[in-house]
Amino acid sequence: MPLSPEHVSNLVAIVGADSARGAADLATLDPGVDPRNLGAGLMLRPRSTDALARALAYCNERRIGVVPQGGRTGLSGGAESRDDEVIVALDRFSQIESLDPMSRTAIVGAGVTLAALAERAAAHRLAPGIDLGARDGATIGGLVSTNAGGNAAFRHGTMRERVLGLEAVLADGTVLSELGRVRKRNEGLAIEQLFIGAEGTLGVVTRVALALVERGASPATALIAVPSLDAAAALCDAARRHPDFDLQAVELMSGNHAAAACRAAVATELMGLAAHPYLVLVEVTRPQTAVAEAALIAWLEDALARGLVADAAIAQNDTQRLRFWRIREDWAVDRERPGGLWYDVSVPLAALPAYVDACRARLASHDPALALYVIGHLGDGNLHLTVNAERPIVERYEEIAPLVTDELPALGGSFSAEHGIGLEKKATLHRLGSPARLERMRRVKAVFDPNGIMNPGKVL
Ligand code: LAC
Ligand code: ZN
Repeated sequence: MPLSPEHVSNLVAIVGADSARGAADLATLDPGVDPRNLGAGLMLRPRSTDALARALAYCNERRIGVVPQGGRTGLSGGAESRDDEVIVALDRFSQIESLDPMSRTAIVGAGVTLAALAERAAAHRLAPGIDLGARDGATIGGLVSTNAGGNAAFRHGTMRERVLGLEAVLADGTVLSELGRVRKRNEGLAIEQLFIGAEGTLGVVTRVALALVERGASPATALIAVPSLDAAAALCDAARRHPDFDLQAVELMSGNHAAAACRAAVATELMGLAAHPYLVLVEVTRPQTAVAEAALIAWLEDALARGLVADAAIAQNDTQRLRFWRIREDWAVDRERPGGLWYDVSVPLAALPAYVDACRARLASHDPALALYVIGHLGDGNLHLTVNAERPIVERYEEIAPLVTDELPALGGSFSAEHGIGLEKKATLHRLGSPARLERMRRVKAVFDPNGIMNPGKVL
């Protein structure tokens, strides 16, 4: 049942008429991958922590569900909303409040995009220490709430390792402000850490204190075709051990993923590489591009001699470098064959080749019509598996999930790597999560949000 007109006008009065959007206004926004993200009839865009706190307290007293939203770039349904709920958008929390180059920290509003922070940090030869395909739209609040990972996690950790402190508003309007900017801070239980990866179910993250990292100097980038996943894993290990590499990325893609992305980008010059079973994108930085390139070429020649490389291309300029990245990041296969399923898993690198082969075999024997596409962040063993068929198979997520996920706990891997649980992985969490942990999660949720208004139905 839609929110009553009385609730709508009271909530709009709390944040101000110029800080709310009604249904007609919402219809003009980009919902993100899931049209149901904008299912609510009301979006509040508070300008201050105080206005947000008053809005949440109102919703808490009246049991109105609240769905926090950042850039709506999520892929697991964590931002879906219904017409009896209210969306809280953080787009007005868009200030980089401070950036301290010497301490290498920044305090930013939850609505700041990753790209905006990267640009501001670059002026000081610093970087957020996290990077991912959705950088232009994804916001810091959303990245914190999903504990996002991306392509630099093998070096700098996931968002959890980047967060030094944060401010959050709880369901009853209490403001928890823990914006310390130091790495070492042990003052009893780190309550604020619970908001990292909570997907908006405990409260709304409003401001974040982040640790920045040094920005890599001049990049050299190679797109490398490998004969097998074993070769890809060995190549990754060798790149990480290289004494002269400042290794920025080791990304994986299967040939069929790369071929689809090449078709979309009309990258005919890369089609030959995409004909191989797997490709690895390696990016290294050195103070000068020529030095980085020379180191990369020498390393590739050695890898070729060891049979780890079938063919490779080195980006000759920045345009080509961005083209390589586009082949990795463009999920073109999903436009070619819409209605596929995405799984987001982690596997220790040593177990990764055998896991993918076994997974492929399980899918083929279950239904030979299923196709598998693999991309991932090889450096930390995070894979995105697309399973599709000629026709959409969206309704088959739960049927196929066990084939992909159920081997993972025994391997020391995870069925939920970096995209969050949202709605998509709830059933898998209940199947594979330990009852002891799920029960404590329920109790923690009740401590922060006893009325269950925060992002209802997500995660648990
Ligand atoms: C990627 C995002 C979708 O790795 O996680 O492409
Ligand atoms: Zn990813």
